[in-house]
Amino acid sequence: MRENTFIDIHSHILPVVDDGSRTLEESLEMLGQAQREKIGTIILTPHQKPGSRCLTTDRVKEKICRLKEEMKKRQISMELYPGGELFYSHDLVKWLEEGRVPTMAGTDYVLVEFMPDEEWNYMRSGIDRLLCAGYRPILAHAERYDCLYRQLSRAKELTLIGCFLQVNSQSVTGAGGWTVKRMTNALLKEGIVHFVATDAHRAQGRRSVHLQKCAAFLERKYGRPCAEALLFRNARALLENREIEEI
Ligand SMILES: [Fe+2]
Repeated sequence: MRENTFIDIHSHILPVVDDGSRTLEESLEMLGQAQREKIGTIILTPHQKPGSRCLTTDRVKEKICRLKEEMKKRQISMELYPGGELFYSHDLVKWLEEGRVPTMAGTDYVLVEFMPDEEWNYMRSGIDRLLCAGYRPILAHAERYDCLYRQLSRAKELTLIGCFLQVNSQSVTGAGGWTVKRMTNALLKEGIVHFVATDAHRAQGRRSVHLQKCAAFLERKYGRPCAEALLFRNARALLENREIEEI
């Protein structure tokens, strides 16, 4: 695989905005890890919950600028884009249309999450609403939802109506536990995953920035073209607001 080309579309590296990085120092440490893991581009996706905690695109951009100044001093080079991990509620489309929460790097793609035990009908209709409003939803950590567990037909249905699926790198390699690993690999085997991302929250431990081990696993198990699509080719299409090719 080409070096320094991984694109991480799901990350909580931006400091002191959610349950991710707790200090500027921790963010810089995580960015250093990202560099060592051959990540060259990151979409910063702080948690956003319409009605409670939200950052507009401009606020996210401001915070990125501040982070970049510090990165320059430490000679860390990384392409950063604004984004958000949007917690779904029926108000979400309105908030997106009013520009109160960011899409992914200013494109039509939106990273959306639900409660892990959310009901299938609610998830299905939520995704539908986003699609009807003209957005391209990406379901964050698709391996975590009870309503999709052992229900691959549902996950497949989401992709058929136009939703994209993201899974976490740590779930691929098994750091999230055996059940999660089994679900993640079932989705991958089915060929319905579009993005693998870190969802990194910390500089230390299980939720730190890991991608290389996962990249090697994906390449070994699913082949290089598939690994490249999951780790940077589809993300490049996202950044250019293009359609994502079939995997
Ligand atoms: Fe996340």
